[in-house]
Amino acid sequence: MVNPVLDSEGKSLSPLASAISHEQKLRKQLDRLALIFMARSIQNNLDDSAKTFVVSDITFVESYRRLVDRFLSVLVDENYLQLVGGRYLFVKDIPMDTEIDQIAQFCLTIFPSNVKELQVVKRCGLSMPQVLRGEIPFVSVLFEDGDISAVEVFYRNSTISRLYNKSVASLMRDIVEDGAKILEVGAGSGGTTEFILPEISAIQCDYTFTDISKAFLIRAKRKFKEYQLDYGIFDINTQTTEASIKQNKYDVLVCCNVLHVANNISTTLRYLKDFMNPGAKLVLLEMVKPDRWVDIVFGPTDGWWGFEDFMERKNYPLMADSQWLDVLEKCGYVDSQCQSPLAHHDVHNLSIISAHTPTY
Ligand SMILES: C[S@@+](CC[C@H](N)C(=O)[O-])C[C@H]1O[C@@H](n2cnc3c(N)ncnc32)[C@H](O)[C@@H]1O
Repeated sequence: MVNPVLDSEGKSLSPLASAISHEQKLRKQLDRLALIFMARSIQNNLDDSAKTFVVSDITFVESYRRLVDRFLSVLVDENYLQLVGGRYLFVKDIPMDTEIDQIAQFCLTIFPSNVKELQVVKRCGLSMPQVLRGEIPFVSVLFEDGDISAVEVFYRNSTISRLYNKSVASLMRDIVEDGAKILEVGAGSGGTTEFILPEISAIQCDYTFTDISKAFLIRAKRKFKEYQLDYGIFDINTQTTEASIKQNKYDVLVCCNVLHVANNISTTLRYLKDFMNPGAKLVLLEMVKPDRWVDIVFGPTDGWWGFEDFMERKNYPLMADSQWLDVLEKCGYVDSQCQSPLAHHDVHNLSIISAHTPTY
């Protein structure tokens, strides 16, 4: 079972609860900034004289169409924009750059240890108008100076991510048996792997670390050099992988913060079954609710808006718990469930989703 926030001995409740509430407050500020960046990105990419506008009046490269639509819908929800007779109208003043500086300064004072998160959101947000116009490649903004560790602050270092990564690791310890073969998909920076490996170190098992990107594999080989892991390319969309992986069947598949990039989630979930033994476990960690700062930091990345399964996902790449349970069942997985160490907390925007293949 996943550890609850309040552990049975009540240990470390206060520090954990207060760390979570601290992070919640930070994320609210990041969301405030994100909203301003969305408004600026639209306004900066419109003709100055435009009083009202339609989407085609905004300058952006076509590949960002769905991101622009998302910004517009958030701005309508937040009463920055009104949609009248098919035309948008700005009805609220867009905060000046000084307000961005004020929020950033406030964050630095209240959350001095979260300077990196703030820097990434600010960097991505400020560049968004040029990114949308196709003048700067977003990867060069997100991974400034080629530093791919920049985004780790969000899905690895934060209190909430650590809590979820630890929970995934505990779940893995509970389900991995001696002799098991484990396949991690989209393992990336190894943010979750580094929690899993120590938890299962006493269990005799094979662990294969995969990602779409060779750069992550090279990095992981250095990072996990004290463990004996296998490595390989695995792409959930093009269905390309190493022959050595293809020949194998696994007992546990673990995919953390990756399956939402599937072009078609049903196709991917069925494809993953090809790699699973009867009764094999599937463990997923996924964001299950949209966050505005996420739209700024991950929204322009390749794959975020690549979904084409409009039966499952209408206008956003993330799925709620109930959607995950439905699609898993539809794809032939059994006993699927969603768990969260923060289930009763309103910051619950991640879920640990587990299921297994039938035993016959
Ligand atoms: C948000 S990151 C999370 C990675 C990882 N769980 C971690 O802790 O670093 C998403 C990962 O999915 C990988 N990815 C993107 N598209 C993919 C695809 N089509 N197939 C497999 N992995 C993919 C990326 O390279 C990246 O490492």
